[in-house]
Amino acid sequence: TKELTILGLECSADDTCAAVVTSNRRILSNIVIKQFREHEVYGGIQAYVAMKAHQRNMPEAIRRALSDANISIEEVDGIAFTRGPGMGGCLGAGLMAAKGIAAALGKPLVGVHHMQAHALTAFLTTSVEELPTFPFLTLLISGGHTLLLLATSTTSFQTLATSNDSSIGHAFDRVSRMLGLEWSDIGPGAALEVFCATGPDDEELPNDLPQFPLPMPGRLDFSYSGVLTAVNRYVTDQGGAEKMEPLRKLAVARAFQRAAAAHLEEKIALALRWCRREGFVIHHLVMSGGVASNMYLRSRIRQLLDTSKSRVPIALLLPPPHLCTDNAVMIAWASMERFRAGDHDDYDVIHMAKWNI
Ligand code: KG4
Ligand code: ZN
Repeated sequence: TKELTILGLECSADDTCAAVVTSNRRILSNIVIKQFREHEVYGGIQAYVAMKAHQRNMPEAIRRALSDANISIEEVDGIAFTRGPGMGGCLGAGLMAAKGIAAALGKPLVGVHHMQAHALTAFLTTSVEELPTFPFLTLLISGGHTLLLLATSTTSFQTLATSNDSSIGHAFDRVSRMLGLEWSDIGPGAALEVFCATGPDDEELPNDLPQFPLPMPGRLDFSYSGVLTAVNRYVTDQGGAEKMEPLRKLAVARAFQRAAAAHLEEKIALALRWCRREGFVIHHLVMSGGVASNMYLRSRIRQLLDTSKSRVPIALLLPPPHLCTDNAVMIAWASMERFRAGDHDDYDVIHMAKWNI
């Protein structure tokens, strides 16, 4: 079959992304324009600020994606865009850009589910011999979502666990801000990981910290509000981050990251037990979403799988960090089956801010 070349657009949150990907798994370009600076003064992502930045930056992202791929828009076989879930105004900016190009050039259009795209990235980045086999588990951990899913096909995902309060990414961002960490170029969550990886061994840190709680043991649900409250109370009791010794801040950051990892481990172990009971034989765990670029979390989960008592070995599939965070490569890639099947969206398609996986 003919190789398809797809232009993907993604701007559901705070990154403006455009990429060109082929159906033969070739990534021809991958442009991500971040907007940390715009949001810095607000201490968190502002939907309206993000939307305006997408309006400003999307044409530049598209121009650079085509130029890096060294193709003209006429040579593109279809346009894929993030239809949802995400912030409405942000989604609208990408949707209108995609529809404008598609309608003007008479190209087919496919709207993609953002979380499915995160989950399917592993099919693009894993070598052909090691592709995941259905059913597999997917852990999607990002700023918007904390999801443990059972994937039974490329389009069917069953939610085994999710968070009813804060997402894990939001929790990393909040703790990073509570500790007053410097993060302008990489974002607060990644800055927390970097901070934890610096400095002396744990033995040399203050050892009088409270235990940050591991919420809801035994239940297939994520929850981060308890640990956030505990960290916040502790930092406040210390007189705020400015008053804390650097080593004490480091101890808090590491304790939080350890608690976050233990929480993920517990839920994965519970999900594997559930799968065994229900008769699903799991060979793969796919980890994706921005928080999945965290090397400490990766190694903790790899250890868990290596020592798990399941009858078959479970391989951990990890897209490279730059394809775990939001990007348009995953959007173009996730659209591929539908383009191949001729299953396009009409030009009057609208975005879905809320969209179940
Ligand atoms: O997938 P993503 O780029 O966007 C969403 O769909 O939300 O995830 C962004 C989230 C942010 O909360 C960011 O702070 C967090 O992922 N994040 C990290 C790391 N890199 C990004 N959290 C912990 N450790 C990291 N290395
Ligand atoms: Zn995402």
